[in-house]
Amino acid sequence: MISFRNITKIYNLSKEPIVALKDVSFEIEKGEFVSIVGKSGAGKTTLIRLLIGEEKPTSGDILFKGESVPKMNLREIQLLRRKIGVVYQDYKLLKKKNVRENVSYIMEVIGAPRRSILRDVPQILEIVGLENRQLNFPAELSGGEKQRLAIARALCHRPEVIVADEPTGNLDVYNTFEIIELLKKIHSFGQTIILATHNKDIVDNLEKRVITLSKGRVVRDDPHGEFIL
Ligand SMILES: Nc1ncnc2c1ncn2[C@@H]1O[C@H](COP(=O)(O)OP(=O)(O)O)[C@@H](O)[C@H]1O
Ligand SMILES: [Mg+2]
Repeated sequence: MISFRNITKIYNLSKEPIVALKDVSFEIEKGEFVSIVGKSGAGKTTLIRLLIGEEKPTSGDILFKGESVPKMNLREIQLLRRKIGVVYQDYKLLKKKNVRENVSYIMEVIGAPRRSILRDVPQILEIVGLENRQLNFPAELSGGEKQRLAIARALCHRPEVIVADEPTGNLDVYNTFEIIELLKKIHSFGQTIILATHNKDIVDNLEKRVITLSKGRVVRDDPHGEFIL
């Protein structure tokens, strides 16, 4: 479903070029739950930005369902981003909209009919366990609840992949556990999940595939991996 082929990404903003990714290759199949792990600066976020077409690789190719992401035009990138739902460490919620509106707004923007918005929003909020918080604003939610709302927003495009970039970076142990359990539940519905994290405990407990990045290179790719660096 996803194929990285000899991807190198060099940032050339300053005099010293930064090699963020170096000759990275891997395949991810539909329905997999893959963790991308590595220390801060290893290249995890860069990898995600390349996957969703926010950055172009310096060399190499990325295929999403056979289509080259770096060759996509703006319209194709927009469509790609409906197929790949991304969740970030800092949630990226709409502060002035309540829980229900945070989800329904996204569906309105993509032109979903009112009927399906009314049907889908409560369903999605129930999956993430926010059915009793529909009228609350983001400021009234705990960190874990904010991240669950961010996941609800990512789900409402009915994406083919959910990508989570350090989704538990701002959360305590209890809320971290809840978010990982939620990702596992979504995975059990058949969703492909990519989780980027530097948190060793999460990854070791998942017992799923682990791709380890170190200084921009893939140094391990274990089917039931642990986080070893
Ligand atoms: N927009 C950018 N411009 C220049 N350098 C960047 C940019 N984004 C990331 N980098 C550099 O690329 C490397 C990888 O960063 P990143 O992908 O954010 O790693 P991670 O998410 O694993 O912490 C780091 O050295 C970082 O400083
Ligand atoms: Mg990062």
